[in-house]
Amino acid sequence: MKFSPLETPLRTIMTPGPVEVDPRVLRAMCTPILGQFDPAFTTIMNEVMEMLRQLFRTSNRWAYPVDGTSRAGIEALLCSIIEQGDKVLIPIYGRFGYLLTEICERYGAQVYTIECEWGNVFAPEEVIDEMKRVQPKIVAIVHGETSTGCMQPLEEIGRACREMDILLVVDAVATIGGTEVNADEWHFDGVIGGTQKCISVPSGMALITYNDRIEKVVLSRKKVERGIQTDSDRSILAAGKTIISNYFDLSQLQDYWGPRRLNHHTEATSMVYALREGLRIILEEGLTERFDRHRLHERALIAGIEAMGLSLFGEKKWKLPTVTCVNIPDGVDGESVRHMLLHEFGIEIASSFGPLHGKIWRIGTMGYSCRKENILKVLTSLEAVLVYHGVHVNKGEGVQEALKVYIEQSKAIGAGR
Ligand SMILES: Cc1ncc(COP(=O)(O)O)c(C=O)c1O
Repeated sequence: MKFSPLETPLRTIMTPGPVEVDPRVLRAMCTPILGQFDPAFTTIMNEVMEMLRQLFRTSNRWAYPVDGTSRAGIEALLCSIIEQGDKVLIPIYGRFGYLLTEICERYGAQVYTIECEWGNVFAPEEVIDEMKRVQPKIVAIVHGETSTGCMQPLEEIGRACREMDILLVVDAVATIGGTEVNADEWHFDGVIGGTQKCISVPSGMALITYNDRIEKVVLSRKKVERGIQTDSDRSILAAGKTIISNYFDLSQLQDYWGPRRLNHHTEATSMVYALREGLRIILEEGLTERFDRHRLHERALIAGIEAMGLSLFGEKKWKLPTVTCVNIPDGVDGESVRHMLLHEFGIEIASSFGPLHGKIWRIGTMGYSCRKENILKVLTSLEAVLVYHGVHVNKGEGVQEALKVYIEQSKAIGAGR
């Protein structure tokens, strides 16, 4: 059998990840390979760590990528701090709260959950009351739920965790690089970011940062793991305090990324290049400017969707700026609309999970995909596909409202000059 050279169709990707990758990042991936202990490469590793600190807005010593998709970072952070029987509290407001639950259970935690209706988030006091009741060692929570398009405010919860000496681990996979994530100011102890969303780097790495409160737990366990000599060490291991994973053991990963440079895995060199370029582009744009850009395109998209006559799912007050959830009009086959968008217009939007499957579409405004031409294209094409499906829409109004948002923004910038 003969295989033709790789060829892929050109797509406009407007899902909540993966999204389009900046061409500069794709070019960086063609950079020749360096050995992982070559000083030219370790310099790049150090630069990546410094850029990650700026991205997470932290002065943490540890900020580096873990090879594997975003859940690899979540698993690495959690498995390195959970000891058998530890209490972990997980407030769940969408699908990715269940992912946190599953990971914690696999590593032997005693998991406590509270849940709220999908499309909503928790009032901070609900979580804080539960923290007082459960007295967990760890609170693990999602910052931006891509499954519902909601964002949980975390400042108050963070403050309470610090006051109660609880470790706060945050899944910021969908928010990092697209909207504010202030790790230090909001008292996050450990944070995980994704590459394939607002960072616009291919999937395959997870970005993590953690402070000395987490490192203390990590190192206390390292001593037990690597120096099993005494009966008491053995009894700690027998009590199940050991970390099951080698790949995700942060004590080993930090020895590899840190100045000791102890060999762990063979680094995914081309992904480090991609990440370095992706982070460089973000810092060049400026974090605040980047968040404003995401807000602008989100505003234009919402204006267009609503002017077309469609409605948004979820409480607007808690809306995640990087994902817009649209209610599928009654009687419309959501999958047929997505299929036509992809095959006739080359545009991909997402469906949803669990209770929302078949009820909403999810449109991402993330990273390099978050551009005016993409917003206008998705609005025009969605309108055409809906008309084809016999849906009554306000023809032409969606794209006009979006255009108004852009024109007003240009005028405001002009006036400010
Ligand atoms: C909020 C959130 N957390 C975690 C994940 C898991 O990421 P990955 O699929 O890269 O492992 C996703 C993926 O979409 C996500 O949206």
